[in-house]
Amino acid sequence: MAWSRFGVADSERLSPSARAARLRDCQFGRAFTEHVATVCWTAEHGWHNASVRPYGALPLDPAMVGLHYGQVVFEGLKACRSPGGQTSVFRMADHARRLQRSARRFSMPELPEALFAESIEELVRIDRAWVPDAAEDRSLYLRPIVYAEEPHLGLRPSTVYRYLLMAFVTDNFFGAVEDGVSVWVTDTYTRAAVGGTGEAKCAGNYASGYLAQQEATEHGCQQVLYLDAKERRWVEEMGGMNVFVVRGSGADAEVITPPLTGTILPGVTRDSLLTLAREAGLRATERPLALAELRDGAARGEITEAFACGTAAGVTRIRRIVTADGAWDAGSGTDAPITERLRVALVAAQRGDGPDPRGWRHPVR
Ligand SMILES: Cc1ncc(COP(=O)(O)O)c(C=O)c1O
Repeated sequence: MAWSRFGVADSERLSPSARAARLRDCQFGRAFTEHVATVCWTAEHGWHNASVRPYGALPLDPAMVGLHYGQVVFEGLKACRSPGGQTSVFRMADHARRLQRSARRFSMPELPEALFAESIEELVRIDRAWVPDAAEDRSLYLRPIVYAEEPHLGLRPSTVYRYLLMAFVTDNFFGAVEDGVSVWVTDTYTRAAVGGTGEAKCAGNYASGYLAQQEATEHGCQQVLYLDAKERRWVEEMGGMNVFVVRGSGADAEVITPPLTGTILPGVTRDSLLTLAREAGLRATERPLALAELRDGAARGEITEAFACGTAAGVTRIRRIVTADGAWDAGSGTDAPITERLRVALVAAQRGDGPDPRGWRHPVR
């Protein structure tokens, strides 16, 4: 598609020192770059009017469907610079396809993979100066979003949509996490039920988690671990990350994560870690994990490690599990060697200069 470029005038671009000032606070979702990419969709013209423009407020009709009825889906992926200076986007096609699946679930038009790729290339190129150097423990987080723009309040899908891509520089989601995080297992709230929207990345899934997150904070935990909505027995995932446990140690270690049964977001990091674990000769299994297995397995020394994973969080050790009935250390070991090994393998796959046999890094030239 032909892209119109309405870049910030050279004279108005942030100077290196102004950029450095903005980068002083790189908490998640704060240090936005200078541009956004956008594409419109109408029933009549399909996807059209692709442009890159300065970051700024958008026109908003008070009756916009997305605002009222939540026809809003989005993605989150990262661009990194390798030590050799190559900027690449991690598993871009997988994120494009997940955005399409989320859109389908919400009766929205699917953005073609090629257009998704073009938008990222356009934005990363124009805001290239924002991509952190390999030596920094930071990356450029890309946030594509599609929302319903038609002003009408009848209950039917919108006939007008906008795709928008923005980017920000971010540190590690949890800050320094050598100690790992503690998780609160809520027995008040659930995240998703069979037939619902759990496997879609939609806006409402996140706002509905805030109360559970508040519960977690009140119990001294950083994150919520959700159980299934029916039996309240099976571990599903966290508010923004998938979950793994490790059984055993050394060459016999097995990494286990709950299966994708429709209520869990199919994490790209989850999939990457299953692949990397298998390539490292570990057994990697997708099977239901009962909360009782986590508790009893840790007590018996069989569950040795637990970790959360996602694009924003990377691989983060889970240190402690807290429930209304008691708390326990998530793994029996003082170290978490398998977690660390997988974390290092993932970072190498994302940021390395070496061969990329799986085709996971999409270079932006
Ligand atoms: C609910 C939820 N689970 C899991 C993940 C991890 O997915 P990914 O590894 O694709 O970032 C995310 C983040 O996108 C999420 O929001």
